[in-house]
Amino acid sequence: MLTVLFTLSLLAVWLPHVSLLDNGLAKTPPMGWMSWAQFYCEIDCLHHPYSCISEDLYMEMATRLVEDGYKDVGYNSIHIDDCWLEMNRSADGKLVADRVRFQSGILALSNYMHERGLKLGLYEDYGTKTCAGYPGSYGYMEMDANTFAEWGVDYFKFDGCYMDAEKIPQGYKEMSAWINKTGHSMVYSCEWPLYLLVNNKTVDYAEVSNYCNLWRNYYDVSASWNSIHSIINFFDLNQDKLIPVTGPGRWNDPDMIVVGQNSITPDQSRTQMSIWSIWSAPLIMSNDLRLVAPVYKEILQNRRVIAIDQDPLGKMGRLVVNTTNVAVYVKSVTPTDENSSQSSFAVVIFNRHLKSSAKVTVRLNEIGLTNSAGYFVQDLWSGEKRGIMLPDDQYIADVPPTGVNMFKATLTQADF
Ligand code: GLA
Repeated sequence: MLTVLFTLSLLAVWLPHVSLLDNGLAKTPPMGWMSWAQFYCEIDCLHHPYSCISEDLYMEMATRLVEDGYKDVGYNSIHIDDCWLEMNRSADGKLVADRVRFQSGILALSNYMHERGLKLGLYEDYGTKTCAGYPGSYGYMEMDANTFAEWGVDYFKFDGCYMDAEKIPQGYKEMSAWINKTGHSMVYSCEWPLYLLVNNKTVDYAEVSNYCNLWRNYYDVSASWNSIHSIINFFDLNQDKLIPVTGPGRWNDPDMIVVGQNSITPDQSRTQMSIWSIWSAPLIMSNDLRLVAPVYKEILQNRRVIAIDQDPLGKMGRLVVNTTNVAVYVKSVTPTDENSSQSSFAVVIFNRHLKSSAKVTVRLNEIGLTNSAGYFVQDLWSGEKRGIMLPDDQYIADVPPTGVNMFKATLTQADF
């Protein structure tokens, strides 16, 4: 008995003074728009007035989100990334937004978003500086969490530049606790796994998912096929670690959707949207919404595909077939049947080949679609209905190079 008591009191001393995240937020993957992969750290408003990081840019993007139909399909937040700060804190230690580029201040900007039914995301870094060299939160975490709450920030992205790898887990946990303590609802987005990866350290995903609503697993996306493909490869290789920790309120974040930037083809754009959706990943676009061509807008606003991303079951899909050129992913989605414990499914067939299209034949029961009464099958990109298919039936698709075919197989009735 004495030993038990002793161990318990030791635990009380050693337990970090942080609490688990239980904010009830991000029950479906966040959707919105973020500046980084399009506008990076452009701060020269004199020469680049339309693309510099400023309140005007975020307000313009908010207008486009609302007026061009993005908000109607679910994109409901505007995220400020790096380079929004003054180089120095105020005399009392508070963060100050750049006085010229954000002359109205962040509170005014968050009010602006809220008036339009949007949310505001803000960026900071756990280290001594942000990745672009602005003041970091190290030593000021409580004060910064309170400042973000006072400013009405709804979503907080916490980066990890300029910090020892050893301190990363503790810092992210502490900030989680400070945010909770403010009592203000803020989605908490971490880069904890990425900074462990960068430093060759193992990631305890179960732990990360207890403190963060979403977390960046891998390097930054950029608007190139190589970048998108390298992220897909990383997630494929690590899916057994990532799938079990995914669920409502806790998401892996493969980084921004770069669809709408012209360096990605329409086929590659459908691939990014489809695979991000089959993973239940955040759909946070980074593009210039003022210049998105109609073909990309249609891809970004495909409600059938977005519904797979936002499916309330919140499952991360699994890569179930993998040949040199073809990958097939399967995700359990609603509607489900409680009596038979069968679910509906979304399926993505991805052709990695850079030049040749692939004719792919998939027998439904070979990828786990076994409901004996069959499924209503619909191609989600074209909208074409393929009718009822039984587990023994074959789904045939012509998949373009670096492109996908995506379909939903909706449960017809219970399997008796
Ligand atoms: C890191 C992050 C990016 C972006 C930049 C800003 O690289 O991973 O998403 O926020 O910092 O400097």
